[in-house]
Order: sequence, then structure tokens, then C-alpha cells
Amino acid sequence: MYSFLTTGTWPDYELLDAGNFEKLERFGRYVLARPEPQAIWDQHLPPSEWERAHATFRREKGSQERGQWQLKPGMPEQWVINYDQGDLHLRFRLGLSAFKHVGLFPEQDPNWRFIFEQTKQRKAAQPRVLNLFAYTGAATLAARAAGADVTHLDSVKQVNFWARDNMEASQLDGVRWLVEDAMKYVRREVKRGSKYQGLILDPPAYGRGPNGEKWQLEDELNELLKLCKELLDPQDHFFLINLYSLGFSALILDNLVADIFPAIRGTREIGEIYLHDQGQRKLPLGTFCRFSS
Ligand SMILES: C[S@@+](CC[C@H](N)C(=O)[O-])C[C@H]1O[C@@H](n2cnc3c(N)ncnc32)[C@H](O)[C@@H]1O
Repeated sequence: MYSFLTTGTWPDYELLDAGNFEKLERFGRYVLARPEPQAIWDQHLPPSEWERAHATFRREKGSQERGQWQLKPGMPEQWVINYDQGDLHLRFRLGLSAFKHVGLFPEQDPNWRFIFEQTKQRKAAQPRVLNLFAYTGAATLAARAAGADVTHLDSVKQVNFWARDNMEASQLDGVRWLVEDAMKYVRREVKRGSKYQGLILDPPAYGRGPNGEKWQLEDELNELLKLCKELLDPQDHFFLINLYSLGFSALILDNLVADIFPAIRGTREIGEIYLHDQGQRKLPLGTFCRFSS
């Protein structure tokens, strides 16, 4: 089944406008303007609305990623927003990073809800969930809030500290934090015969393990998914992979998952994730595939 996923009503987040390779967003009470390579169309809102941004990210000459934030007086470097969807209540600390990121991918909201619901539906008394490339932990906390025994793995220590702050701000505890290379850890877990009722992956196009291990999406994804198959409890599981690499079609994911997980009993859902702005235009921000037993 091919589907398009987007955010539900979330008072603390809104995509206001996008265009001219930029996006204008509200996180809580602060409005941010930052680069968005996919937004090749014209902006809808007048320049006066964009100029009202409390923080604007200016890219450094010749750099795709690095740059500086220009802050209006009173704009903090860090702030906290709420996320309340049904029974799922989380709080996220946001911060202005040197790479236009703020520590959260709001378009992942539909996947956080999927993780929360799927964790609750597992037969296991305390489902074991593994979150790979876990960043600041929103997906980790969605599973933990539903009662899972969660392992959060990322290769960057500071990112795990940030995720731990989000756990404490969300009044949760008991997450297992790992600073490891995802591929290395999964290989070891397969050798150990470990099984999980939930697997979550959100690999970048390119990355490094803590000891410089290279991660290149198109070269390693096939093998990583084959290893993940060995870790999944065949009787009782959910699986979610999200990709945000430009130009990586959801059909690639569909072929890989169809080959590697042929015995999927439930629905295999693939598709695109997008955010819509005030003009109801859709900003595509990733592809996904998810299924459950
Ligand atoms: C952008 S994030 C994923 C977003 C996250 N899942 C979310 O929705 O919040 C990609 C993460 O992968 C981590 N990473 C990159 N290479 C890695 C590797 N080889 N092993 C483990 N984590 C890695 C990065 O540190 C980064 O936090």
C-alpha cells in the first residue's frame, strides 16, 4: 500500500511557508527561517512575514550544510516544546545547531504515533524495541512511553545526552543508551541470537561510527536490512524504516523489504512523508516503509 503521511494537529509546531529553497516554521512561540533544498517553488507569504522570524539560518559561502543563525533580541539558543497526541505526551528541548538542525524532525510525528500504537499492541509483556540512528530520541520516547524496553543507539555521545534530556523533560526513564556503530552492533546482536519486537531505523545518507566506521546508505542498507530480519521476533513485531535522502524513492525500500521480509502477514505500508504549509502546499521530507505482525 502506497501512502502519504503528514503531521496531525500539533499546537507547538507549524510549517508556515516554504519556497525559494527555504522554509518558515513555528516551534512553540519562536519562528525560524532555514534552508530547504526541496522547496524550489515560490514563497507564498510576503517578505514581511519571513522577516518576522526570530532566528534565520544563513549558510556559509560554498557550504551546503554549515552556517550561522541570526537571532532577534530575546531569541534563546535553547527552548522546550510540547508534543501531545492522544495518550502520548512528550517534551523536546530544541537548540540552534551549526548545521541548520534544531534537534527534532517534526515531520516524523506520524511515525511516533505508529511506534506508540504498535508498541502497545505487542503480545510481549514488555516489548523489546531497538532504535538505530536514534538522534535526539523522539522515536525512542514514543516506544518508552508505551511501556517498551528500549535500546537507543547513535554514534554521537552528545546526541545521546540530548536524547536523555528529552527523556527527563518527558518524565520518562529506563532507556538503554548506546554510543555505537549501528552496523557493528547489529552484527553482534545477530551473533548473540537477540530478538526484538520492534525495530526502528532512520539512517542518514552518509555517517560515521564512533571509531570512524563509514556508513554509506546505498552501499550498506541491503545488508543492514538482512541483519535486521534476523533480529525481528517472527511472531510478534513491528518494523519501521525512514529515509530522508533526496532522490531515494520509496520503491527502492519496497523492493528491499519485499525481498528480505517475504513472509510479512500484515500490511506493508510504503510511501512519502510530507509537511503542509498554510497554503496547503506539500513539502516532501522523506520516504518510509513500515509493517507489523
Ligand atoms: C538525522 S539522524 C536521524 C533522525 C532521528 N531518527 C529522528 O527522527 O530523530 C541520523 C543519526 O544517525 C547517526 N549516525 C550516523 N552514522 C551512524 C553510524 N554509523 N552508527 C550509528 N549512528 C549513526 C547520526 O549521529 C544522527 O544522529
